[in-house]
Amino acid sequence: MSLELELVDLASRIAREAGDLARLRRAEGVHLAATKSTLADIVTDADREVEMLIRERLRVARPGDGFLGEESEAERGESGITWVVDPIDGTVNYAYGIPSYAVSIAAVRGSAVAGEWEALAAAVYAPASAEMFTAATGHGAFLEEARLSVTTETPAGALLATGFGYDPATHDGDLATVRRIMPIARDLRRAGSAALDLAFVAAGRLDGYFERGLKPWDHAAGALLVVEAGGSVSLIDRDSTRPMLIAGGTEVHRRVIDILRDET
Ligand code: IPD
Repeated sequence: MSLELELVDLASRIAREAGDLARLRRAEGVHLAATKSTLADIVTDADREVEMLIRERLRVARPGDGFLGEESEAERGESGITWVVDPIDGTVNYAYGIPSYAVSIAAVRGSAVAGEWEALAAAVYAPASAEMFTAATGHGAFLEEARLSVTTETPAGALLATGFGYDPATHDGDLATVRRIMPIARDLRRAGSAALDLAFVAAGRLDGYFERGLKPWDHAAGALLVVEAGGSVSLIDRDSTRPMLIAGGTEVHRRVIDILRDET
């Protein structure tokens, strides 16, 4: 078995176990542990517990690998492979009881900096719907056993998704971006989990997705899903404090880039 397939097998097994724990904790009642960058940016006890579970499972299975997660300290490994992990992407949905949240686990090689690494394997698991999205580089993207493909035709305009930063100071800029994009959209979704938005682009449930200021763990796994489903992903304005991630089928991706490239 190739390294990529071994890694995706491990990632999906751990993501399913982690997602089942998140769903159990949600059913028991969610406790807010702290706020982070802003009042809107929250972490629950479950985010931390689920990340610890994932980290421990990875440490036992692959002790030489590095780790970059949303809720705990990063660790550089010796193997050249780093796991990029969001234990619960869509934490605000999770805290409110909205089912759009996911465990996101990616294995990357080389730099642990988004846009510089080589993605090898990805698993995005949505516990509420029990849907497992996986991809291994060179082997395609899947929803369970079904092979995924991005959309190629958008005759009525593109069904797009986006997200907004937690810092209220960024809202005006994000809304201005939405205004510029709407002429090519048939409609816009803001579902609250970047990992699931990207998985849905891979599955053809959305035509494209764009968002400024994502963290690496929000998009590491989802971006590989899109690429392996035949789509394109770009991280533009990488020198800015809020780089823009754009994903979609080749044509939608190109049209969104054309509109947003010159934005500051
Ligand atoms: C957030 C979600 C959301 C996106 C935010 C992310 P978190 O991740 O992916 O959809 O709009 O930018 O921070 O905080 O729930 O892990």
